[in-house]
Amino acid sequence: MTLRAVVKGVGHYLPERIVPNAEFEASLDTSDEWIRSRSGIERRHFAAEGETTSQMGAQAARAALENAGLTADDIDLIVVATSTADLTFPSAATMVQSELGMTKGFAFDVQAVCAGFVYALTNANALILAGQAKRALVIGAETFSRIMDWEDRGTCVLFGDGAGALVLEAQDGTGEKSDRGILATDLNSDGRYKDILYVDGGVSSQTTGHLRMQGKEVFRHAVEKLAATAHTSMDKAGISSDEVDWVVPHQANIRIIKGTAKKMGVSMDRVVVTVQDHGNTSAASIPLALSVAHSEGKISEGDVIVTEAIGGGLAWGSVVLRW
Ligand code: UT7
Repeated sequence: MTLRAVVKGVGHYLPERIVPNAEFEASLDTSDEWIRSRSGIERRHFAAEGETTSQMGAQAARAALENAGLTADDIDLIVVATSTADLTFPSAATMVQSELGMTKGFAFDVQAVCAGFVYALTNANALILAGQAKRALVIGAETFSRIMDWEDRGTCVLFGDGAGALVLEAQDGTGEKSDRGILATDLNSDGRYKDILYVDGGVSSQTTGHLRMQGKEVFRHAVEKLAATAHTSMDKAGISSDEVDWVVPHQANIRIIKGTAKKMGVSMDRVVVTVQDHGNTSAASIPLALSVAHSEGKISEGDVIVTEAIGGGLAWGSVVLRW
């Protein structure tokens, strides 16, 4: 008998305000055509004034709990992947815990920027397999609109806000790849590349700072590293490209998504793409894409899903799971 962390529910939350590319044309030397053709992004959601990461995370968590047919009382672990927590401390995860009215279990944040959700899933999986938790909420939630430099056309048109959540539950499996649940994970980072994607502020430098990115450099690393990590976790799980039902990639750029799928040997009709509607929502992008695909009836029980993401650090990784 092998313990598995199985997906019981999924949900998401998007802020009300939708900003189409054309809205940037008034204040920046940019165009809808440039943004679409270089990134695949058509629109993104921005949080309302006063709307926070933990509030959005809690909304996504409620949706995931409802989808799972569970309540907050059934949960004993919350992991929030975010780089844009409401406060320096406490964690966004404990704030979500409070919003949900939970008084037991434990909650903490994971900060691995755009790879955050893959890191959070891997951590939650390890805690479930170690017997530390039975049911976990794994949330990706971000308000990247708060760290944009609105004069930097190379970054501010690319990001958006939102949240997505999964409920994981410990279940007995056979140890075979036919099991439902997380089948394999792979995490990587290389701090030599810390200067190509970062925020130029933080607590110990006493500023909030803005996101800075050498887009072309990040792009150069992305396809190669994403395909490599996907292959590593697929090999660990014993899953071939033909057995993959859905690739659910980090949604940063349609060209990266297509290039990675090609290297993975998976055709685009088996790739979930939401970048056109959400932009890059960092750690929220994968659970948002999972939730949207699930609500559209694309993902069903038994499907093999590969998620992969890369972001600031550089940090990157992947998870293979059977839904
Ligand atoms: O989620 C974390 C990981 N992040 C990523 O994966 C992002 C990776 N990078 C990318 O997605 C792409 O590199 C970008 C979408 C950021 C940029 O696309 P690119 O094809 O690499 O363009 P570029 O940066 O080489 O810029 C090409 C030109 C430049 O002008 P010159 O130097 O050729 O005259 C830029 O100044 O496009 C210019 N440019 C813009 N023009 C209109 C940059 N931003 C804009 C803009 N509107 N918003």
